[in-house]
Amino acid sequence: MLSNLEQQPADALLALIKLHNDDPRADKIDLGVGVYRTGEGETPVFAAIKAAEKKLVETQDSKAYLGPEGDMGFVEALMPYVFGKEDPAMGGRIEGMQTPGGTGSLRLALAMAKRAGVTRIIVGKPSWPNHNQICKDLGLGVVEFNHAGADGQVDMDALRAAIADAGEGDAILLHGCCHNPTGIDYSHANWDEIAGLLAKSAILPILDLAYQGLGMGMEEDAYGLRRVLSEVSDALICYSCDKNFGLYRDRVGALYAMVKDPADLTKVMSNGHNLARANWSQPPDHGGAAVRLVLEDAELTKLWLAELDEMRDRMRWVRDKLAAAGTTGGVDLTPIGSQNGLFSIIPFTPEQVQAMRKDHGIYFAGSGRINVAGLTTGNIDQFIAAVADVTG
Ligand code: LMR
Repeated sequence: MLSNLEQQPADALLALIKLHNDDPRADKIDLGVGVYRTGEGETPVFAAIKAAEKKLVETQDSKAYLGPEGDMGFVEALMPYVFGKEDPAMGGRIEGMQTPGGTGSLRLALAMAKRAGVTRIIVGKPSWPNHNQICKDLGLGVVEFNHAGADGQVDMDALRAAIADAGEGDAILLHGCCHNPTGIDYSHANWDEIAGLLAKSAILPILDLAYQGLGMGMEEDAYGLRRVLSEVSDALICYSCDKNFGLYRDRVGALYAMVKDPADLTKVMSNGHNLARANWSQPPDHGGAAVRLVLEDAELTKLWLAELDEMRDRMRWVRDKLAAAGTTGGVDLTPIGSQNGLFSIIPFTPEQVQAMRKDHGIYFAGSGRINVAGLTTGNIDQFIAAVADVTG
């Protein structure tokens, strides 16, 4: 029976971890999967999380089940950061649940959208490859629009056309900030327009906020999401703490639903709970509990936000340094300076991607997406020289 299964390719992004690990060269560089690295190339546990974990070990007196919604203290503690301190539940219209990472949240959001009658998901191209993969696995159609033009700016015409062509039965999946893989985000004016267009359409917005705080700041990175929510009737919000709390392998995320009529929330969320039960039953607790302890303690919150500021400043330094290199070999690195978050795309040909790996031991996605956090004072000049070598 099982021999009927067809061989599947390894996930291209996750496969990069092994490719890099297997390279014996001491000066190899990992710009693959999206993890933050310090100037020393490390991905340490946040000090705020370490302190919260210590507290957790000392105070947690049970590991009994919590239910499919996970730790609601965690889910609620995040809400002022995501939706704003003024009225985080938007007059009782928003409720959430814990999920295993942002991927778990997306899986539930897309499955809930399908149950609600959505058949097509409108997605920018390129997008995080797992977006399309989850849609495909759920049997949802994908309609792509061009995310950014050759000028390195968002392609608003393509987005306007995609929204104009869609309606009832469609959902649109938008990156809230730090677009993965391009780093090219919508401006405030773009978001104002998008919010207005969505408000006039029957399209269900699904907002993916996986990098809050890694772009311009915690508040600034929530601008688009909050603008859309302020105008539309219903939306699903997929949140990840994996990057902004450095909890990658602990899988910490949340799904929030916003509805027009608060009376519908119980019914809507019962679908999330029921889908979670069928998929993973209950989310892993440890990381979410650590986040809750950080957010419940003013000192730890301050420490976490300072650590996040440091990460953002370091990535800005990398971006500025790459941009300052200007035209390098055959590519212009200048646009990287005005992009946000962990990722940017350098227009390498497939052959150049291979040459960067083979000749220089530098690993990044086949799309040309680099994780800028993998560059440090110790390796950035080596990277720039390698770019000049393979593209020149
Ligand atoms: C990435 O795009 O590298 C990250 O979001 C990690 C992942 O799960 O793919």
